[in-house]
Amino acid sequence: MINKDKIKKFRDLRTPFYYYDLEVLNNTLSTLRKESEKHGYIVHYAVKSNANPRILQIISSYGFGADCVSWNEIDAALKAGFDPSRIVFAGVGKSDLEISNALKAGIFCFNCESIPEIEVIDDLAQSLGTIARIALRINPLVEAHTHKYITTGIEESKFGIHTWELDNVMNRLTELKNTELIGMHFHIGSQITKLSVFQSLCTHINELNEWFSSRGRELKIINVGGGLGIDYENPETYPMFSEYINLLHEFLDLKAGQELHMEPGRAVTGQCGSLISKVLYVKNGSNTLFAIIDAGMTDLIRPALYQAHHKIENLTSRGDLYRYDVVGPICESSDTFAKFIELPETKRGDIVAIRSAGAYGEVMASRYNLRELPAAVFSDEV
Ligand code: LLP
Repeated sequence: MINKDKIKKFRDLRTPFYYYDLEVLNNTLSTLRKESEKHGYIVHYAVKSNANPRILQIISSYGFGADCVSWNEIDAALKAGFDPSRIVFAGVGKSDLEISNALKAGIFCFNCESIPEIEVIDDLAQSLGTIARIALRINPLVEAHTHKYITTGIEESKFGIHTWELDNVMNRLTELKNTELIGMHFHIGSQITKLSVFQSLCTHINELNEWFSSRGRELKIINVGGGLGIDYENPETYPMFSEYINLLHEFLDLKAGQELHMEPGRAVTGQCGSLISKVLYVKNGSNTLFAIIDAGMTDLIRPALYQAHHKIENLTSRGDLYRYDVVGPICESSDTFAKFIELPETKRGDIVAIRSAGAYGEVMASRYNLRELPAAVFSDEV
């Protein structure tokens, strides 16, 4: 909760900044740990959703692993205390240098997306005199029913290996001596709110699990990726970890000794963060009032890029309700956070909070228009 005392203190800070509520983060992490431990499932936090060093340290203190998509993310995870033996490395375009660095760091597993990539990993592992553990990221053709930019498991996606290619992959793997296949990996999209989507994923995974067994390959790791959504309308709510994990438990037919791994990102960090901004001007449009705030798409790009909805609150006004378009200062028409939303009468100097911005917020900030990057403020600092 952002209480009155905090709001008073926000007035003295340079805006915009990300405000992280550590109580929310810790509650989220304890629930996730409790629910995952019930079934012995292994969590790799998706670092891409928020790589703020303090957030990473807190998450690593819960004993979770990390899901990384670049060497820099691996490096940040290691510095924050994540154990290399719990780090997985995904991505369609891992560079040679990134692969070598990850091999030297002794990470747990490469989630591989193509035969050429596996060949390069094998080559580099050989030259370093080591064996690379890999999982195949398989495209299971499950529609995630989310925004098309964050849908990753359909026919046209660049991600993963198609099932019709698996025979070729398996044949090639028998020739590669420095690669050990340990698992299958999936990730069908992000901000998935229909849990039935994960049930379809389970059905596909069960079929593939049979396919591998019928070829005498028992894979130890089944990694279901991330994707669990959050409620952007209700920022005070927590993700449905218990329902999600129970569903996996009910519908996935794990074989004896198989481990279930998962990679939540947004569900871990989304609700603990708000982007705090000051109103610069209120101006008349032809059919609307523009509330121009000092945060822009450079600070939070989700509304501009995915037409994403984030709840906006005016923390300092209790006036009558009016409708506003809330926009930023960037020279782009897409620099709009919300259109025609009701807010209490808003004026210059008011403080607004753009909620549920902890995931894919700070980490996607840019310096377009040569703006400063937003700062991060934690609830125990103000
Ligand atoms: N694992 C893999 C392989 C992924 O590609 C992703 C996210 C995750 C796990 C974590 O997914 P999550 O639990 O956060 O849904 N920038 C977009 C989201 C991009 C997600 C990319 N991959 C947004 O702001 O909505």
